[in-house]
Amino acid sequence: MAFPYSTAHQVPLYLAPMAGVSESPFRQLCRRFGADVVVTEFLSAEGIRRENPATIDKLRFGPGERPIGVQIFGADPDAMREAASLVTDVFAPEFIDINFGCPVKKVVKRNGGSGCLKDLTLVTDVIRAVISGTHLPVTVKIRSGWNEEMRDPVSIALRCQDAGAQVLTLHPRTRAQMYSGNARWDEIAAVAAALEIPVIGNGDIKSADDAVRMYRETGCEGVMIARGSFGQPWVFDQARALIEGLPMPSAPPVEERFAIASDHARMAQSYENDPRGAAIEFRKHLGWYVKGLPGSADLRRKLHLVESLSAVDEIFGEYLAARARGDVALSEGEAEEARAA
Ligand SMILES: Cc1cc2nc3c(=O)[nH]c(=O)nc-3n(C[C@H](O)[C@H](O)[C@H](O)COP(=O)(O)O)c2cc1C
Repeated sequence: MAFPYSTAHQVPLYLAPMAGVSESPFRQLCRRFGADVVVTEFLSAEGIRRENPATIDKLRFGPGERPIGVQIFGADPDAMREAASLVTDVFAPEFIDINFGCPVKKVVKRNGGSGCLKDLTLVTDVIRAVISGTHLPVTVKIRSGWNEEMRDPVSIALRCQDAGAQVLTLHPRTRAQMYSGNARWDEIAAVAAALEIPVIGNGDIKSADDAVRMYRETGCEGVMIARGSFGQPWVFDQARALIEGLPMPSAPPVEERFAIASDHARMAQSYENDPRGAAIEFRKHLGWYVKGLPGSADLRRKLHLVESLSAVDEIFGEYLAARARGDVALSEGEAEEARAA
C-alpha cells in the first residue's frame, strides 16, 4: 500500500519524534538537509484538549516543515479523539501519529505511550477513536512489546493495521529495555513482511551507512533517524545519496559545521519567547555539534555555560582562531594521542 501523504522520494527518510529535540527549528533544519518527513515531539492529548498553552505552543510549525506529522499520546480514547480533532482543525498537519512507544514512567503509569502495549484492546480503541476525530491519515509508532514475555511486534502491528493505521513505525525494543541492548532489525523485517501498510524502520541508525543497511536488510519502506541526527542534520543528505547509489557527500568541515550550528541557534532564538531559556535549552545541541572535534572537551565546557546565543558565535570564533594558530586546548587524552602520533 502507498503512503497516504506525498513524500519527495519513494523511500522517505524521517526525522523521529523526539521530546525536546524535534522542535520546529531542528525540524526545519533537517528538512533543509534532506529529511523527507518530520514528526513533532509527543504531545499529551489531555494537554491539547484542555488547550494547555505550553502544549499548544509546541504545535506551531511553518510551511517549510511539511510534510509533518503531529504525534499525540494518551490512554483515554475520548481525549485522543478530541485532541486529533483540534489538531486537524487548527493546525492541519499531513498526518496524526499515535505514540505507543514512550517508555517514560510518568507516561506509562497512566497507560500512555508503550503502556498501551499491555492491552491490545486499548491499542485498537485508541486508534479507532483518533480516526473518528480526523479526516487525516492516522499512523502509529510502536515498540516490540511491553517486556520480553509480551514481545510480539508482528501481532501488535497487525492489530494496528486492522484498526486502521495507515503507516507503522517500529522501534524494535521493548518498553522494559528502554534504550538498552540493540534494536532488533530482524523484527522490522518480520513486520514489513507481514503488513500491507508501509512500515518505517527505526532504531540504532548512527550514520548514513546504517540507514541504507536498515533499508536493504529489512525491506522497510522508509527509515526514521532519531539520535543519529544529533549534531549532524546532514546525515539525511548523506543517507539519500547512498540510497540512490551515489557517492556519499562528506560531513561539512568545521567552519561550516559551526555556521550550521549558529544558524540553528538563531532559529531557536527567534522561535522561543525567552532568550535565556532558549540558550540554556540549546546547550545540548551545541555539545552535539562539537562532538569529536580536537579540543572538544574544553569547547563543550565553554558552550555549556552560555546564557545567550550571541556568546556562541564568539566561542566558535575563538576556537577557529586558536585552531588557525595551531593552539587548540587539547584534553589529556587528546594530547597523549598527539604525542604518540
Ligand atoms: C531525547 C529523545 C526523545 C524522544 N522522544 C520521543 C517522542 O516524543 N516520541 C516518540 O515516539 N519517540 C521518542 N523518542 C524515541 C525515538 O523517536 C526513537 O524511537 C529512538 O530514539 C530509537 O531511534 P534511534 O536509535 O535512531 O535513536 C525519543 C528519543 C530520544 C533520544
